[in-house]
Amino acid sequence: MPEPRAAVILAAGKGVRMRSARPKVLHEIGGRSMLAWSAALARDVGADAILVVTAKGADAVAAAARALGCETAEQDPPLGTGHAVRAAAPALAGRSGQVVVLFADTPLVRAETLSKAFAALDAGAAVAVVGFEPEDPAGYGRLVLDAGGGLERVVEAADATPAERAGRLCNSGVMAADAADLFEFLDAVGCDNAKGEYYLTDVVAVARARGRTAAVVRADAEEVLGVNSRAELARAEAAFQARARAAALEAGVTLRAPETVFLQHDTALAADVIVEPHVVFGPGVTVEEGAIIRSFTHITESVVRAGAEVGPFARLRPGADIGPGAKVGNFVELKKTRLGAGAKASHLSYLGDTIVGAKANIGAGTITCNYDGYGKHQTVIGDGAFIGSDAALVAPVTIGARAYIGAGSVITKDVGEDALAVARGEQREIAGWSIRFRSKHGGPSH
Ligand code: UD1
Ligand code: CA
Repeated sequence: MPEPRAAVILAAGKGVRMRSARPKVLHEIGGRSMLAWSAALARDVGADAILVVTAKGADAVAAAARALGCETAEQDPPLGTGHAVRAAAPALAGRSGQVVVLFADTPLVRAETLSKAFAALDAGAAVAVVGFEPEDPAGYGRLVLDAGGGLERVVEAADATPAERAGRLCNSGVMAADAADLFEFLDAVGCDNAKGEYYLTDVVAVARARGRTAAVVRADAEEVLGVNSRAELARAEAAFQARARAAALEAGVTLRAPETVFLQHDTALAADVIVEPHVVFGPGVTVEEGAIIRSFTHITESVVRAGAEVGPFARLRPGADIGPGAKVGNFVELKKTRLGAGAKASHLSYLGDTIVGAKANIGAGTITCNYDGYGKHQTVIGDGAFIGSDAALVAPVTIGARAYIGAGSVITKDVGEDALAVARGEQREIAGWSIRFRSKHGGPSH
């Protein structure tokens, strides 16, 4: 049994460059907050205690952290990354086992990278730091290596000599150590530097001064992209999308134009699903094997079952459940609606709070009138029922199995099984009416 691990997630920064009323770490990538990404990563590598360090008054961040099952610690005032980790010390005091420090604004770090950092600790290093080579190293801390390739110290850009600043290997901010070591090293870290801050990165030099070693684990620049602005948020989103599309392709999904399909962190596409160009998946979508999602479809919190076909131009809102082999065609909107196996709603419909039986046919333009301005009401359509075009079904209402509804009907009462219901003005025909009308107006108008 490996020892339990802990994670400290730093989230006390202000994030002013986002220009947002929302705290930076609650902005989303792939439909989940950056904070939630960090917490999920910590869980993925076996952290059973996750401590989120927040700034004073950052109640929304603390509440979000607790909702994610994390503990919180307040850092007040913020005096640097080392000071922030120290704010976590009381909660983690006396813990043995490994701890990893993550930045809540760095959402794309991979679990494999953290595993490598833990492995470096297992191999004897006191501290493992995740390094990378950015295109522009400008503001990053530089990793200074010794002759043997071990990590000697980390120097912040503001404190670096020109020679050190010429180094390309930078600190991502991710660091792992044994919990007991980390807090002991931190006690020896001061703030005599360019920024007057307690740098977390100084624990490396402290460890070395005590005869211990430190290791570097490398990551690619995209993985450790930090988000400080909307532009970087967009870049991180793009990186996530690329990763999610690659994973879908790898899992046997056909994406005919992958770069035009938007996925979320929890989009579940089974093997042999086909997704045409320009499809947007919102959160909470499952598509089962062999289903086809056609172009310009937008799906949120819904299930599309095996072999079903959705779109083009369909909208599945929360609670849509498209049965096996069912079909949803163009300009059809579904909300809290279950389509039975093989049922069809092929054109121009709104179905809300509706249960549609197997093999029922919903004609073009059918509308369920589910809302009366106060409450939502159910419509039930039985197996094999046939709803004629342009019917309005005023809920609550039940249409029996195999019943027919005449086109253009406004149905306000339940319809029995196998019946025909027609509810519209009867057609009248007045022979010659047009001739009389036109002559009264002095001949043809066109
Ligand atoms: C830090 C690293 C630097 C690294 C860079 C990567 C230190 C001293 N420097 O620099 O080596 O290259 O990240 O992006 O660690 N935070 C707090 N409390 C504080 C200060 C920061 O919680 O008092 C949090 C921030 O919210 C953020 C993270 O720590 O999530 C990093 O802080 P930031 O100020 O961006 O660090 P950098 O100066 O960029
Ligand atoms: Ca930063």
